[in-house]
Amino acid sequence: SDLTSTDLFDLSPVVPVVVVDTLDQAVPVARALADGGVPVVELTLRTSVALDAIRAIAAEVPEVVIGAGTVTSPALAKQAAEAGARFLVSPGATPSLLAAMRETGLPFLPGTATVSEALAVLETGHTAMKFFPAEASGGAKFLGSLPSVLPDARFCPTGGITLANAPSYLGLANVGCVGGSWLTPADALAAGDWDRVTALAAATAALR
Ligand code: 3PG
Repeated sequence: SDLTSTDLFDLSPVVPVVVVDTLDQAVPVARALADGGVPVVELTLRTSVALDAIRAIAAEVPEVVIGAGTVTSPALAKQAAEAGARFLVSPGATPSLLAAMRETGLPFLPGTATVSEALAVLETGHTAMKFFPAEASGGAKFLGSLPSVLPDARFCPTGGITLANAPSYLGLANVGCVGGSWLTPADALAAGDWDRVTALAAATAALR
């Protein structure tokens, strides 16, 4: 891939965390986000159509950087890479999952929620990570406590982030971007309300 893990922080202030229930939602939701100025999708591996959705977006929406989220096993890391994911995001990390994500050659954000978990990732030489579940794990106050002890670690907090609380994270020196599902509500996807997705995406431009 042409991207490094730290480059992932610069694609958009908000990385949309997307759950597609049916394959026909995949391409239009990616196009709707791009139309709203958000050129990245974290497509979560939570539904049976997720890998096919990644394949479809990779093939049909080249203006979007398509990644895989909810990568919870070494096998899923490999399958996501084979489907055309250009980056990987996990909610947590084990030694074998870290190794498998690295093995794909793709940029990746391993999930961490404690200082010890962040240290374990840093020990592997990797500085870019997800902070999950952000609001439940101490939020911006927790992340703001880290630069003095973990100056190299940079985070994409996800979990409970909204348009309203995103600025409290994006103002921190160790936060590169935030992630969230609020740009792609399940009912908008089910109804094919792509204009609503585009409007929610466009509203994040004010966070830059
Ligand atoms: C994730 O996988 O990062 C979360 O499901 C996103 O959390 P949110 O739904 O609270 O935005």
